[in-house]
Amino acid sequence: MAKKFVVASGKGGVGKSSVTAGLCYALSDMGCKVLAVDADVGLRSLDIILKTDSHSVFDWGDVIRGNCLPEQALSSASGNICVLAAPMRFSPEYTAETVRAMIDKYDKGFDFIFADAPAGISEGFRLACAMADEGLIISTPDGVCVRGAEAAGASAEEEGIKSLRMIINRFNRKGIERKHLLNIDDTIDFAGVRLIGVVPEDIQVLFCFTGGKPLPKRSDARKAFARIAKRLTGEKSPLSPAK
Ligand SMILES: Nc1ncnc2c1ncn2[C@@H]1O[C@H](COP(=O)(O)OP(=O)(O)OP(=O)(O)O)[C@@H](O)[C@H]1O
Ligand SMILES: [Mg+2]
Repeated sequence: MAKKFVVASGKGGVGKSSVTAGLCYALSDMGCKVLAVDADVGLRSLDIILKTDSHSVFDWGDVIRGNCLPEQALSSASGNICVLAAPMRFSPEYTAETVRAMIDKYDKGFDFIFADAPAGISEGFRLACAMADEGLIISTPDGVCVRGAEAAGASAEEEGIKSLRMIINRFNRKGIERKHLLNIDDTIDFAGVRLIGVVPEDIQVLFCFTGGKPLPKRSDARKAFARIAKRLTGEKSPLSPAK
């Protein structure tokens, strides 16, 4: 049975899709089979980041509507990663019950399933939560996004997500020293969600992921994703950011 996580944030652009991709690569490197589900209806991006856009024909909406078999909607990315694209528009047929039944069809074939939620806490967010049991709340270390993280965490719990952990993304020590950004302790306190890892600001995330490439081995963000992936599999690994 797969461990199923919704990756959510409240505010947009904080790195949900990048973190989803980074964790998929890291878990795949560890030998896990991973399904990345794009839950951002109408604004999908995982197919570009994980480079499946040229060969994805069906999306999860097609699975729900019976237009294809569940395996026909999967696109193979690098390693042990598969991507399930998001539909381009909402349909009354997409409900918490139908998306959950759709995800359950993939349960046996994967170790991890990540549902990359849209920004906000409305309909698309609720559908993404219905795909998962646990939540990863992504926040950048600034007051506005941390408030969004707190709201997303509370809403995810209302949607039945049982266990929540936070990933602080775009951590930047200089920003904290200059008082532009919150430190790690304050980010945790204000968001009210336990930390599972810290991903540094790393220009390679932009360069590589927007071009559909994995991060280079020397990348600090890649090292951070590897640490978090270990923690997700139950291995011990430090929480602290890369120096
Ligand atoms: N750790 C990082 N270091 C540097 N840039 C990053 C990092 N994480 C994400 N980014 C950049 O931030 C931008 C937004 O990232 P991403 O699309 O993953 O956010 P998102 O939360 O999924 O956005 P949306 O809410 O629109 O779905 C992208 O240009 C990405 O390359
Ligand atoms: Mg996104």
